[in-house]
Amino acid sequence: MSPSDLRLVPARVEHVDFWMALRAEPAARRFVDTEDDSREALVRRVLEAGPLGAPRVKGFRWFVEYGGALVGTVSTRDVSREHGRAQVGYMLSQAYHGRGLGSRAVAMMLEEVFQLPFLQRLWLTTLSENLASQGVARNVGFTLEGTMHAHCVLHGERKDQQFWGLSRRTWEARRGG
Ligand SMILES: CC(C)(COP(=O)(O)OP(=O)(O)OC[C@H]1O[C@@H](n2cnc3c(N)ncnc32)[C@H](O)[C@@H]1OP(=O)(O)O)[C@@H](O)C(=O)NCCC(=O)NCCS
Repeated sequence: MSPSDLRLVPARVEHVDFWMALRAEPAARRFVDTEDDSREALVRRVLEAGPLGAPRVKGFRWFVEYGGALVGTVSTRDVSREHGRAQVGYMLSQAYHGRGLGSRAVAMMLEEVFQLPFLQRLWLTTLSENLASQGVARNVGFTLEGTMHAHCVLHGERKDQQFWGLSRRTWEARRGG
């Protein structure tokens, strides 16, 4: 199998058990605050994620299938029509790390969300020590815009957080559109 065998499927409540297990993996907990996860909270997040193009929806989520198995999730949340922007997130099961699948899944999501004509800019944050996440951001065209020093606390420790941005213009230029 290759990264081209990936498929994004719109989030459904049946995906929540997989999502809970994914968020409990050490590789995810190392970089993402999953302390307050509850089944109800994750179900709510799935139900709030609307189909692309639905008016007033604040976010979109897909689960990632690879060879028919669920391997991760990608999302675009905090959608602001007023500012034409949204925040990107991604998480892949650790058994599938390091094969280019994260970059491929996020690139596929960008193809979906940039169909929204109001969307002009995407942003995301990474922890300074999360090199894989930075690699994904760079691979799909995000530019490092700055570092917010000691900006957040994870597992009781203050962490530097990096801020990344991708404009529609940059994304279109990269894909020759
Ligand atoms: C972030 C994540 C989705 C990356 O998934 P992935 O499929 O392993 O990523 P890719 O294989 O596409 O790799 C992306 C780039 O990062 C690099 N990279 C991956 N792991 C790395 C590591 N541990 N150290 C340094 N670079 C790394 C890869 O080499 C690749 O760069 P390249 O194409 O120039 O070689 C995955 O690590 C993950 O789910 N982590 C836990 C959750 C998380 O951190 N989410 C993001 C929160 S901001």
